[in-house]
Amino acid sequence: MNKSAKKQIPKIGLGTWLSPEAELYHAVNYAIQIGYRHIDCAPIYGNQTTIGKALHDSFSKKLISRDELWVTSKLWNSYHAPEDVEGAVKITLKELQLDYLDLFLIHWPVAFKKSVGANFVSHGDEFVSLQKVPLNETWGAMEDLVEKGLVANIGVSNYSISKLQSTLNVARIKPFANQVECHPFLKQSELLEFCNANNIILTAYSPLGAGGQSDGERNKGKPLLLANKVIADIAEKHAVTPAQVLLAWQLARNVCVIPKSTNEKRIKENFDAGSVRLSTEDIALINNLNINCRYVDATFFEMPGSGYTAASIWE
Ligand code: A2P
Repeated sequence: MNKSAKKQIPKIGLGTWLSPEAELYHAVNYAIQIGYRHIDCAPIYGNQTTIGKALHDSFSKKLISRDELWVTSKLWNSYHAPEDVEGAVKITLKELQLDYLDLFLIHWPVAFKKSVGANFVSHGDEFVSLQKVPLNETWGAMEDLVEKGLVANIGVSNYSISKLQSTLNVARIKPFANQVECHPFLKQSELLEFCNANNIILTAYSPLGAGGQSDGERNKGKPLLLANKVIADIAEKHAVTPAQVLLAWQLARNVCVIPKSTNEKRIKENFDAGSVRLSTEDIALINNLNINCRYVDATFFEMPGSGYTAASIWE
């Protein structure tokens, strides 16, 4: 058993989706230097090797010890077959230069053929149905990783209540966390209530509602969360930034956040959101902003012959 099992997940982590390779090494080092103790990674982000170098150097310079850091990564869609799960985590561990992960998540309730590797599919015939590789069988292989000491905790990502319930129905080890898109335009209240009732941590990706927006066409016409007037007014009142308001709102409802930035000023600003206290009135105003707007809407899995629809993923 490794030491990580007793750790608490730090509520603010550094997101690394869409982080430019050239900036990421410095961003991770800087984040650790200023106090981040949680890094969120995934093989599909294509940058784990760079994160691994930064972690290795932070450990060798004694900036931090392995025990003090929480590292999350994810099982990519191409490795859902139970016999492929251990190989996938071992590749991730090698890239990150670690001997265990604090948390390993099933990235999506979507399966690809193994031949796709750590990439995205380009054709519908590269998908595998969940009837063929059931999520609960993948979960069984995730549980084996805990027993082998390769990961301290396991969880899921992009799971709905019904998929979580189905996992809970068979789990020997219950999901530790569900990582989903979450921000005031997509409050995820019912999911949060379900997670709280079942002792599952909800982690918000795209907490600034910004990551998916670089994704051109798909998000055209969707409102900009960081430019929202209610958020801007609350930020002005507290002399903080809109991003800090968005993060402080999540922390107040006990949701973990993993804002992505490779910019020193914004990395620090996001971390400092941990000391921003919103009033009950501010929180009520933000709670009213929900419009069920997903920036990462899963329509990219809808391809002729894929067998998946966004609706079937979120149901
Ligand atoms: P950058 O890396 O240049 O800072 P999310 O985590 O919601 O996906 O948001 C990530 C996006 O928001 C990135 O484009 C990031 O750009 C930007 N961002 C991160 N932190 C802040 C901040 N404090 N204020 C404004 N934009 C931010």
